[in-house]
Amino acid sequence: TPRVFHDPIQLRTAIRQAQAEGQRVGLVPTMGALHEGHLSLVAESQKSCDLTVVTIFVNPTQFAPGEDFEKYPRTLDTDLELLSRFDPVWVLAPEVAAMYPPGSTSVVQAPEIARQLEGEFRPTHFDGVATIVLKLFQVAPADAAYFGQKDFQQVRVIEEMVRDLLVPIEIVRCPIVREEDGLAISSRNRYLSAAERQIALSISQTLKAAQAQIEAGPVDVHALCSEMLAHLKASGTAPEYVTIADPQTLKSVETITAEVVILVAAKVGATRLIDNMLVSPP
Ligand code: PAJ
Repeated sequence: TPRVFHDPIQLRTAIRQAQAEGQRVGLVPTMGALHEGHLSLVAESQKSCDLTVVTIFVNPTQFAPGEDFEKYPRTLDTDLELLSRFDPVWVLAPEVAAMYPPGSTSVVQAPEIARQLEGEFRPTHFDGVATIVLKLFQVAPADAAYFGQKDFQQVRVIEEMVRDLLVPIEIVRCPIVREEDGLAISSRNRYLSAAERQIALSISQTLKAAQAQIEAGPVDVHALCSEMLAHLKASGTAPEYVTIADPQTLKSVETITAEVVILVAAKVGATRLIDNMLVSPP
């Protein structure tokens, strides 16, 4: 079973020791409730690192009032069990006060790329993510950190923060892990009823259909987005946005001349889901 740290400073000391002995250290930041998506990041880290550190911390500052911070699943024992298939793995599971020392008021302002899309619907979210991720990089000074493309805008925000603030860590992007039927795996999927899960499937199906169209030849971007929106609504989801965007800037494109990312956020019942797909024109 993994070695568990609750004290971030003890973890930092141990990581530095491992690095002094020549080990390459990989970091996988998570909020726990681990699933195959998270585990794919651990597997990727293990491929090129001698030691993998997984952090499990439900970060209060990235949730807005009324979001699911209180009811977010906390399953540390199961998480440790799932991680026991990897070796060596260290886990940091800190208390909130250890990551936010009493009296702390300093925060990271997320880069501008954070303001659109998710940032429009969750205006404080990425400042919270940037703040905790920088703190995690401080207590787990790894050589590389692994993030999933499932949260496409998040990994772009982290990449820009690391560039802007000269953070000495390599950011590695990993592909989206999906259920057999295409649903992107997410800790929030466990909120879905059987009927809602069926409805949620329309998100990945809509992305796949759009991908097929783009790969087949020139498309009218506006018409395609309208079609996707209509399909998502007809399927019973409440879409918040559908965008075909430049994968670097996340600005929506008028015409597709190079690789694009199709980004979707939609509510299914009370559960908010996001998904995306990178697609290239023929
Ligand atoms: P969490 O939602 O737990 O996700 C942790 C990491 O797992 C993120 O990099 C996310 O993109 C990745 N991930 C989630 N589902 C995935 C899937 N189906 N396939 C591939 N990767 C997947 O993202 C966060 O936590 C937090 O915002 C965090 C970065 C830890 C900061 O609190």
